[in-house]
Amino acid sequence: MEGERIMKKCPDDERRELLLGNCAENGKLCMERCAQSMIAQIKEKAGTGKVLLALSGGVDSSVAAALLSSAIGRNLNCIFVDTGLMRKDEGDEVEKAFGGRELNFVRIDAEGRFLSKLAGITDPEAKRKIIGEEFIRVFEEEAGKIGAVDFLAQGTIYPDIIESGLDGAKLVKSHHNVGGMPKNIDFKEIIEPLRLLFKDEVRELGAVLGLPAHLVHRQPFPGPGLAIRVIGEVTKSKLDTLREADYIFRDEVAKAGLEHSINQYFAILTDINSVGVTAGARSYGGIVALRAVVTENFMEADWARLPYDLLNQTAQRITSEVDGVNRVVYDITGKPPGTVEWE
Ligand code: XMP
Repeated sequence: MEGERIMKKCPDDERRELLLGNCAENGKLCMERCAQSMIAQIKEKAGTGKVLLALSGGVDSSVAAALLSSAIGRNLNCIFVDTGLMRKDEGDEVEKAFGGRELNFVRIDAEGRFLSKLAGITDPEAKRKIIGEEFIRVFEEEAGKIGAVDFLAQGTIYPDIIESGLDGAKLVKSHHNVGGMPKNIDFKEIIEPLRLLFKDEVRELGAVLGLPAHLVHRQPFPGPGLAIRVIGEVTKSKLDTLREADYIFRDEVAKAGLEHSINQYFAILTDINSVGVTAGARSYGGIVALRAVVTENFMEADWARLPYDLLNQTAQRITSEVDGVNRVVYDITGKPPGTVEWE
């Protein structure tokens, strides 16, 4: 849970105490000072070495990229693998956020590769595995073009370290949690600039570093992306349908001012068609499900009691604006027994 301070013994406890001590103002962590201190430390550690970072567009890797770029500029190499499985406009938003910064940023359009690997696959675990492996493959290929680097950077944050219970120095956070870490990359050391911060502090740091609010406050998004929200086989056309429906839902949640009171909310494209009446004629169209949850830690979750007007407006817009969808349902299952994602 964001902001929750789980005070378990952690190998980094003392370093975090030191950071709090050096960067506190009126008993609270001053994020401007914290940013300056972290930038100085990265400069000292990285020197003139080359750093490689896999940028997913999620909060942690984005803030890590902004911080590293402020510290070492063009010695930072970011590889952003655009899987084609992201939400509407997300790939462009990530690119735009880093466009004006000093760093080497490469966006790889890998949509075709991911979709061809996913063709004909319906099993959720198989989808996850394929996406994880393909991600590593694309990342390694691109990293190979850069050649040997001195550091591999990761967006590991403090709760990752507490939860892992490992010796921090050995911790390797699996990127996207789906495919493990790349093996064929030549680097000497791992660098984890956010490892002393909690999630809410990471968001605050991102804002201090000038990242746009929509990136800093992004809701959690699974590594396999929309592939596990398109039930059954994943195709470009189903993904596009889902992207439109999901965008409308997010837009309506934002208009209702509820963005920050629901922990996660999204649309799912089911693999069921149903009979409806569209423009006065019988239709046989797709069903979109809406999911919204409130949760402390994502281990357990309750379905969000969204206002009927918001649900109504969302359903009306989706059925009239998204081609091929004539029915919308709302998921009222808690976790357990349901998981947050459908696959
Ligand atoms: P579930 O569906 O397990 O989701 O109740 C709990 C939280 O985890 C996210 N999630 C994932 N995140 N890779 C990720 O990085 C995954 O494979 C994955 N599966 C689920 C989910 O979005 C929710 O926030």
